[in-house]
Amino acid sequence: MNTPTSPSIVDLPLRTWDDPEARALSGEALAALEQGQVLHFPQLSFPLSAEETALLDPALTDPKRKNISLSARGLAGTVAEGETRERLHATLARFRDQSGILLDALFPGYSATRHSPATSLRLHAIGTWHPSWRKDDRLLHVDAFPSRPLRGERILRVFNNINPHGVPRTWHAGGSFETTARHYLPALNKPWHPWLAGLMNTLGITKQRRTEYDHLMLQLHDNMKRDADYQREGDWVEVNFMPGHTWVCYSDQVPHAALSGQFMLEQTWHVPLAAMSHTELAPVRVLERLMGRPLLV
Ligand SMILES: [Fe+2]
Repeated sequence: MNTPTSPSIVDLPLRTWDDPEARALSGEALAALEQGQVLHFPQLSFPLSAEETALLDPALTDPKRKNISLSARGLAGTVAEGETRERLHATLARFRDQSGILLDALFPGYSATRHSPATSLRLHAIGTWHPSWRKDDRLLHVDAFPSRPLRGERILRVFNNINPHGVPRTWHAGGSFETTARHYLPALNKPWHPWLAGLMNTLGITKQRRTEYDHLMLQLHDNMKRDADYQREGDWVEVNFMPGHTWVCYSDQVPHAALSGQFMLEQTWHVPLAAMSHTELAPVRVLERLMGRPLLV
């Protein structure tokens, strides 16, 4: 079993999603999360019934999509119908609800305002879905999505490896957001056109209007992935998240790459800046300090 020793990874000993110990750990967990560490729960599994284990079949994923997903718009990304579709829906909803219980206990200050839950079931082995380099998550990056501007909000993610064959999910993770941002800032020089952000929003290309912050984060994401030296020699550690392990991080802040593995559940929430205990650690505030001007315009 992997024993992470990096300062980027913090092991926490919870055993169930509603473990009463979570309240006692919440101060430590919140500080680590907001500083950009990965919270790792090696004893927190998401046991699947025999019927749920039967859903671990990549053929259930729509060939045009990377994952099966559940959001306010319902279940998407699957070719399953009837009972199988209902079982997928119920399994993803159960993971969303269990993750919510964990987050409420660990981060009660987020509970009232975290929003837009999206659950993802990843059935393909990493590397077998055919992405462009920009979508290749085997390369280190921080999360930023062209169609989903965040306007400074945070991406909080809960992951669980549900592989039934003992296969780890191997990540490279860690390194300071500020150090990374300082390194790449001089190269983030694509011109910023507010009128273009407005036009893309009007045309429905983006779900809300991009800010200069979103514009910079997309470039940071791309420049990290394109940089072979950083991919080889960056300040990251290799971690094997074994089946039955849970991990939690702000994926817009923690550099991460998913090298190998198959079968994972992932739960995303968006967290407003105002809910954070240390807003100054948020990527937008770090970038604003480094650039010397407001970026949420
Ligand atoms: Fe990512």
